[in-house]
Amino acid sequence: MKKYAVSEAKPGMKLGEDINASQGATLVPKGTILTQRIIYYLMDWGIDSILVIEESESATKYREEKQLDFKKKYLDTTQKVMEYMEGLKGSKAMKVEEVKEIAEELIMYASDIDSVKLITDMKNKDHYTYQHSMNVGIYASLLGRWLGYTKEALKNISMAGLLHDIGKMRIPDEIISKPGPLTNKEFEIVKNHSVFGYELLKHNEVSVEVAIAVLQHHERENGTGYPFKLTGTKIHPYSKIVTVADIFDAITSNRVYQPRKSPFTAVKELKEGSFNDLDPKVASTFFHRIADFFIGSTVIFNDGTFGEIVFLNKHEPTKPLVKLGNHFVDLSKDKNKEIIDVLVF
Ligand SMILES: [Fe+2]
Ligand SMILES: [Fe+2]
Repeated sequence: MKKYAVSEAKPGMKLGEDINASQGATLVPKGTILTQRIIYYLMDWGIDSILVIEESESATKYREEKQLDFKKKYLDTTQKVMEYMEGLKGSKAMKVEEVKEIAEELIMYASDIDSVKLITDMKNKDHYTYQHSMNVGIYASLLGRWLGYTKEALKNISMAGLLHDIGKMRIPDEIISKPGPLTNKEFEIVKNHSVFGYELLKHNEVSVEVAIAVLQHHERENGTGYPFKLTGTKIHPYSKIVTVADIFDAITSNRVYQPRKSPFTAVKELKEGSFNDLDPKVASTFFHRIADFFIGSTVIFNDGTFGEIVFLNKHEPTKPLVKLGNHFVDLSKDKNKEIIDVLVF
């Protein structure tokens, strides 16, 4: 074990001790692989030095490179998505080959759980539109795989996720990036984006299923969606997948007028929505599988304390059993305690 000043800590290093809050709760557990975000938090908390498990330099380096490699790839993809989306603003032509390539990259991200966890560290408000498109593509691929779709189908599901909001490129910028809630009239204009997206895609060589999924991604099971108030079986299965991925990413991202909420809040909102608005099988597959990621992670509660998730309650995935210092709390019984953010996955 070796002591490091926090300012000298590097992503990829393995923590050799629990970092505890003054009340005794574990903030970051021993064995955690440091990311840049965790290092910032440690500095923020005024922690000067930490113990790091000594291992061959190559092991730390390998992990650091893996994290950096992911971030670089993710930013490169964001750049590509930005270029092609912006390129669509004045023209009708779409470089379909380019889009297919990006959609396949997103399936690759979805095949590595560690990458999916790192997405949380990469969210950037300025790139919301592009990163949202990418993330919905990634989550939709992940969900499609969990639901058992074939590789060929996943390509279209990923593409539908990537392109779901493409029609927004036809909506005036002042409305899309308005730093406040929209008026009813503005909202009516935004609602056109699903039809605009469909029109854009149907003139290009994109599978008709992708175009339909884009057209229907704001339809809801109980007929309360738009543009056509379709219900249940009239909605394409790919669209139902994109809808769940879309809601999850929107809730967990910083948007122009709303700060991000924790993945737990998102799962909770999806769960509540799944009774009427969302396809129950699609939504429940997503929230059960995504909640599994959180075992072992450090979470922040509404009263400012921290804890570690040790066991998930299958019926209430947002109310796990957590470890706070030396004792355990069952959140399904303690109604006052709520998870507001996930610090360390
Ligand atoms: Fe949308
Ligand atoms: Fe969206």
